[in-house]
Amino acid sequence: MIKLSPSLLAADFTKLDSEIKKIADAGADMLHLDVMDGHLVPNISFGIPVIKSLRKTSDIIFDTHLMISEPHKYIKAFADAGADIITIHIECSSDIESTLKEIRSLGKKAGIALNPDAPLSRILPYKGLFDMVLIMSVYAGFGGQSYINDVNAKIKEARQIFGPDFDIEVDGGVYLENLHVPVEAGANVIVAGTAVFGSENPAETVKKFKQF
Ligand code: DX5
Ligand code: ZN
Repeated sequence: MIKLSPSLLAADFTKLDSEIKKIADAGADMLHLDVMDGHLVPNISFGIPVIKSLRKTSDIIFDTHLMISEPHKYIKAFADAGADIITIHIECSSDIESTLKEIRSLGKKAGIALNPDAPLSRILPYKGLFDMVLIMSVYAGFGGQSYINDVNAKIKEARQIFGPDFDIEVDGGVYLENLHVPVEAGANVIVAGTAVFGSENPAETVKKFKQF
């Protein structure tokens, strides 16, 4: 069974509390939190204070996707705010090895993300230092983009390299209609923003994803 991580980026920001409750009660495995700094990606979303506030309202696993240039400066702050999984981009400016080690030293799971044009070979030097790979199926920065099928080969390659039990997350442009594509390629953690929160009934949509 896949793990579903609905992205809060597509939720109604005037009622985050109830939006999260809806998807958590429906069986979502985690909540995907897209943090953007306007520097690594050309968009700004939300950050530490929002995550800290949301932590008080829900026990769901916080799957924190840091699209920021210098994550090493903020790892402790995100950990303290309540992040459970902290994913950094291979394209960021921080020292990758020490940043991944810091995430784990704080008792959190470490993830490494790659944009569609980054080959898997870029993250292999850090194998053993992360608990999840996040394969972007759109260029990081915006919700509501279309799934890039070219990444399927990378998902397959990752599954071969990391083995059957490793968490391989795919993020961007996944809907019920094309869910089979990343899953058949080998992904087991699926991010879905627009597909879930943009649907008429997010709870029903979560259940349908989970039935796949
Ligand atoms: C894009 C974000 C995604 C995004 C997914 O930079 O990392 O998590 O919110 O949104 P959808 O599912 O709408 O493509
Ligand atoms: Zn994301």
